[in-house]
Amino acid sequence: MTALPPLSAAYVLSFQFSSWYPRFSSKTIKSTIIKRLPPDFVEYLDSDGVIVPEGSENLESATIVEDDSDDETEEPEKRYSFPDLDAEIRQCITEYGAVFPKLNFSSPKDASWILPAGSPLKCTSPSDIYLLLKCSDFANHDLSKHHVFEGCEEHPESYNLELVLRKWYSIDRSRECRCFVRKNSLIGISQRDLNYYDFWNDSTTQEKITSVIRAFWQTEIQPKWSFSEDYVFDFLLTRDLSRGHIIDFSPYAIRTDPLLFSYEELWDLYQSGAHLVLRVIDSRAHPAANMNAPIHQHNMIPFEAFSMSSGRDINEFSKVWQEELNKSIQDQE
Ligand SMILES: *[C@@H]1O[C@H](CO)[C@@H](O)[C@H](O)[C@H]1NC(C)=O
Ligand SMILES: *[C@@H]1O[C@H](CO)[C@@H](O)[C@H](O)[C@H]1NC(C)=O
Ligand SMILES: *[C@@H]1O[C@H](CO)[C@@H](O)[C@H](O)[C@H]1NC(C)=O
Repeated sequence: MTALPPLSAAYVLSFQFSSWYPRFSSKTIKSTIIKRLPPDFVEYLDSDGVIVPEGSENLESATIVEDDSDDETEEPEKRYSFPDLDAEIRQCITEYGAVFPKLNFSSPKDASWILPAGSPLKCTSPSDIYLLLKCSDFANHDLSKHHVFEGCEEHPESYNLELVLRKWYSIDRSRECRCFVRKNSLIGISQRDLNYYDFWNDSTTQEKITSVIRAFWQTEIQPKWSFSEDYVFDFLLTRDLSRGHIIDFSPYAIRTDPLLFSYEELWDLYQSGAHLVLRVIDSRAHPAANMNAPIHQHNMIPFEAFSMSSGRDINEFSKVWQEELNKSIQDQE
């Protein structure tokens, strides 16, 4: 499909956090990259069961689980502990107040139900981070070389993970937008959170937002993004909509949701030489406006259903989850 550029492993790798962060660190959220992860960290993330590594909980809230089972017929659960990583994470939390994690590419937004509602992805202990990553499909994507390089002709040989801790702050999703750059032209901007907001539908505001983003891209991104001609970036506007900063970069590829566009439409816009197009939700009845639907519904259960104490296994977990899902479906009917 000509609407999309060809994918190569080198192209995909340019979007991992450690490639672009050094160039854009002053224009994005303060972050720390932890590269040397313990050898069994990936094994831990891949393992069944939702187990908290020993020593990773904060002392005040730690649950001491007495291991008094001497049932020898059961396979003993492998215990994990990452004291050095815990220490690095704690140091970072001390510096930033709270953090939200990300692996090479993805943020575990879909697993935010694990942490208290109202402060999504706000992690204040190493165990918060481990659980979020463990329960996220997005993070899981990064563990698999097959997924990360899907659609690429060659796959790189080695596969190591990096853990990124970003300074946590409350992001107002309504002011976030996704911007599409094709062959070095900024062609489209889409509202990111697909609910209806009055301010997005105001034509003066739309012009203002478009020119703020165009100017930012021209001065801050275009001269420094030399990896490729095609990319997508997420941008967060300040409250007064006069400035903003970068949240993330993503490949210009099918795996990146084009939101209110399709990649064919973006390609048509590029070819027709049209001016930068901003797409917004213009009515409460807009088919894409998901008024109350949680975005990652398949992976959401209420926080209460989750016990922070160690050792709940995934079967028990998914049963609780199914029941909650059934309940919420019945509630809607
Ligand atoms: C993840 O990041 C590490 C550390 O920078 C790097 O060595 C590795 O190649 C990356 N993996 C992928 C799949 O991008
Ligand atoms: C959004 O703006 C359009 C064009 O100005 C207008 O027709 C429409 O009624 C507005 N939508 C709402 C919900 O106010
Ligand atoms: C949830 O609903 C499905 C379909 O109605 C049913 O088969 C299943 O047993 C229910 N699961 C639980 C745990 O209630």
